[in-house]
Amino acid sequence: MFRNLVTKAFAYNIRRASTNSSKELWDLHVGVLIERLPIISKKLTNFEADVMNTLRQIEFENSLKSDHEVKKEKDKLQQELIKAGTYEVDLDGDSRNLQTAQDMEDLSQQEVSKFQYASRETEDDKKGNLKSLNRNLDDTLMLVCAEKIDKNEILLLPQAKWIEGETLKETAERIVRDKFGCNLNVQFYGNAPCGFYKQKYKTENRKNSVGSKVFFYRAVYKSVIYCMSQKAERPVLQGQRIKTRKRDEKEKYDPTGFRDAVIAGLEKAEDLEQISKFLDTAGNKLDYRRYGEVLFDILIAGGLLVPGGSISQDGEKPYTKACIFAASEEMESMREQEQILIKLVRRYKYLEKMFEEEMKKVLVFIKGFQPIERVKLARMTALWVASGAVPPIVLAVLNNEHLIKDGVALEFLLELFVTLKQERGIPALITALKKGSLESRLMEFLPLNKRSEENFIKIFTDRGLEDIVKLHKAQASQEAKRELQSAIIDDIKDGKSHKDIINDIKELSEKNIIPEHEVITIVWTTIMSLGEWNKKEELVADQALRHLKIHAQFFQAFTTNTRSELALILKIQEYCYENMNFMNSFYKIMVLFYKLEIISEDSVLKWYRDAHSPKGKMHFLEKMRPFMEWLEKAEEGKLFKFICQMFHCFWYDDQRNPKTFEETLKHSFTFIMLSNFRLVNKRVSCFYETFKKQLHKSVMANSRYEYVKDFEKDDRILPNCWIVVRLDGKSFHKFTDAHNFEKPNDMRGISLMNFAASCVMKEFNEIILSYGQSDEYSFVFHRSAAVYNRRESKIVSNVNSLFTSSFVFYWDRWFGSEKLKYPPSFDARVVLYPTDENLKDYLSWRQADVHINNLYNTCFWNLVLRKGMKNSEAEETLRGTVSGDKNEILFSEFGINYNNVPAIFRKGTILLTKQIKIDKSRTKKTIVPIFDDLIKPKFWNEHDELLERKNPKFYKFPDDELPKLVEEFLKI
Ligand code: GTP
Ligand code: MG
Repeated sequence: MFRNLVTKAFAYNIRRASTNSSKELWDLHVGVLIERLPIISKKLTNFEADVMNTLRQIEFENSLKSDHEVKKEKDKLQQELIKAGTYEVDLDGDSRNLQTAQDMEDLSQQEVSKFQYASRETEDDKKGNLKSLNRNLDDTLMLVCAEKIDKNEILLLPQAKWIEGETLKETAERIVRDKFGCNLNVQFYGNAPCGFYKQKYKTENRKNSVGSKVFFYRAVYKSVIYCMSQKAERPVLQGQRIKTRKRDEKEKYDPTGFRDAVIAGLEKAEDLEQISKFLDTAGNKLDYRRYGEVLFDILIAGGLLVPGGSISQDGEKPYTKACIFAASEEMESMREQEQILIKLVRRYKYLEKMFEEEMKKVLVFIKGFQPIERVKLARMTALWVASGAVPPIVLAVLNNEHLIKDGVALEFLLELFVTLKQERGIPALITALKKGSLESRLMEFLPLNKRSEENFIKIFTDRGLEDIVKLHKAQASQEAKRELQSAIIDDIKDGKSHKDIINDIKELSEKNIIPEHEVITIVWTTIMSLGEWNKKEELVADQALRHLKIHAQFFQAFTTNTRSELALILKIQEYCYENMNFMNSFYKIMVLFYKLEIISEDSVLKWYRDAHSPKGKMHFLEKMRPFMEWLEKAEEGKLFKFICQMFHCFWYDDQRNPKTFEETLKHSFTFIMLSNFRLVNKRVSCFYETFKKQLHKSVMANSRYEYVKDFEKDDRILPNCWIVVRLDGKSFHKFTDAHNFEKPNDMRGISLMNFAASCVMKEFNEIILSYGQSDEYSFVFHRSAAVYNRRESKIVSNVNSLFTSSFVFYWDRWFGSEKLKYPPSFDARVVLYPTDENLKDYLSWRQADVHINNLYNTCFWNLVLRKGMKNSEAEETLRGTVSGDKNEILFSEFGINYNNVPAIFRKGTILLTKQIKIDKSRTKKTIVPIFDDLIKPKFWNEHDELLERKNPKFYKFPDDELPKLVEEFLKI
């Protein structure tokens, strides 16, 4: 239809003005579609009415009872009770005087029955008055005009030709104005046309243009409300130009006018209360939204602020004294002034954001204000910051070169800080600084030539702002800590020695006054940040231990007191908690650090008892429990011994001046509690009763000398570590000479060593492996070994003496006629290895030692014995040679291929407990010698029962030949 209305014109080949005489030019037209939208809804069809009724029924059934229905039910019940003669029952008080629900219902029915629905059909509908808007109320009407074209009158959308210089929208507006006058109130849907149509003219009708393009605008007739009236509707007279462009809608921006109005109001007010009142009511008339900035300018400075901070002098009365700058700088007056603004902003919420913007502007102007005005503004700003009216972040605008260089910004801030501190206290000041992100930037407000630590401290201290100095120092130390961390990383990356790095750390931490307990946590974080940690949790622990061991010196250097040790333990706990893969490494790291004497038992115990962090507490404490029990036992043992010693000193001393047992004991305890014994005094007193019993026994029973038993050292070995007992022949260079050992290797000597070691292994079944070379033997007790309650001296002395006695006892069996000339002896030591990896590395180290020594000795003795060189000559020949050179000497000089030298010489002897076949049907568990490479993982894979402490595996000798050692061993 719409399209029809437009195109009809072309059917008559209307010739419109063209824009140009060119053949290709088009005429431009604008058409306007003005709609009157429906006023009432359309009548429902039968189907729609059915659906609506059904929905209403459903809603009714699902709904809760209305008050009316409830009342109706109550009424009914009441009626029944009355009927039954229970007159006293009155559910709703005096019901006889009240209207019942049924009465109400009847009344409303009556009212409804009188109501008449208005007709959908209007008078104009009936008359068929097509010019009326009061018709077809449920449909859209479109405004069409009769146009005479070629003597025919046709109905068309109002349209006209576009005139050069107009926008299309302006043409549309013109059409409405020209055709219907200014009184028709229509609203266009946007500035762009909503449709377009083009049509070429018939050739014979063409003059300058080929056709016409029509752009359609759509508009809605706005005064529809009047159409509902029964009176004949009329277009509304607006009495003003139809609004078109935004710029035309705007009122003139007139801050000076606004200022004058505000100043006039303020001047009339006699006190602050009246000012507040005026500002409150003026908001209804004056446009605060638009002139908020001007309003604040006036309230702060008394007039309109112009860039630079001076006041605009335009107008008759450009300035008022009813402002902050003209108020007294006394805090009482300031507080009163503050309230004016607070009330205003509270009343007109939208001013909040504007006020923030205003402050950003005003603070930049402070240099243009009088010094006293600056003081007032600073004090007032402090109050606003304190009350939250101004966010502290706006103070950042003071960090501006031209405000800093003369100290204006600094002075302003100092005044503000002092006021804030006085008004709200230090915590509020610190919070404001933090919120404004100023705490780390305060130094930047000092003029360049004054920017030093000393000046900073002096300036702030002079104004009583010591707390800001503290805050500043804390910030600086934060910075220094970061610096320290990157210095350590750089040093390590540069390959500096541990010693140099430690010196650097000391120097930096002293310079920046970072205490040791903080340095150690930085060291931890830094060292751990250097590791590239394996994703697999089971591998991380060993990796971490290796990594930490490499850097152990750093930890040792910065744990010189308990506080640092505790800080380190807590940091490790935190680290292991936050890095889930390390959860199970904590215990191992602690044991390692304990062994490396980085942390002492005091610190570990303190951590365990009361100084641990709640992070992962249950897990870590549980893991540490065995270690702690061991430590506590050791500690308790030490304490008991100490008490014994004290007791006996006092007891025997007092014999001349006898005291009771109890008195002496108390005396000893008091002495210990006063002395600086490691355990906390509280704990000493817990032991009183236990120790009393034990001491009593030792003093009263047996002999008076028995107490000395308690002086024994408790030397239980750390649990869960591999125990290696290593023996080494004393002066065996002499012993071997004296007994004519073959050089460089004597099979008899090696066999005897192996035999004696087998005897030890037979006796101590917790030894999983022994390794021998030259005059030394290492016995590896499993990490879970409980032999002699893991008491070190018992283990080491028994292993050593059994080995030595076996060496002597079985001498003849291996040396035959070569008699033992004097008793040999061996030294022995215990070494602990916390991880499997450590143990493997230890054994690899011993085997590598055999290789180096044996290659050298083989060359040396061949040069001496076969080539006739003097010892010194042989030494000289071999000086500076590498293994390749030695292999070459052996091969070229003596035809020896070192690889063919028996493995027992090259690799040393590994003794393992194995099941072996002793005849066709029987097997037996025994000790077997193996000459294998234990540096390679292959060995540990083949003998995987060792570390796991499983039952011995079956072992098949090479060539099925039982070695003499085993043969002899089976005999005993
Ligand atoms: P301390 O152990 O410090 O008491 O001295 P030590 O003389 O025992 O030296 P060390 O343990 O370092 O070396 C062991 C020495 O035993 C070697 O240097 C050799 O002189 C000697 N030795 C060990 N096994 C043999 C061997 O099979 N034949 C010969 N001829 N000498 C051996
Ligand atoms: Mg030796």
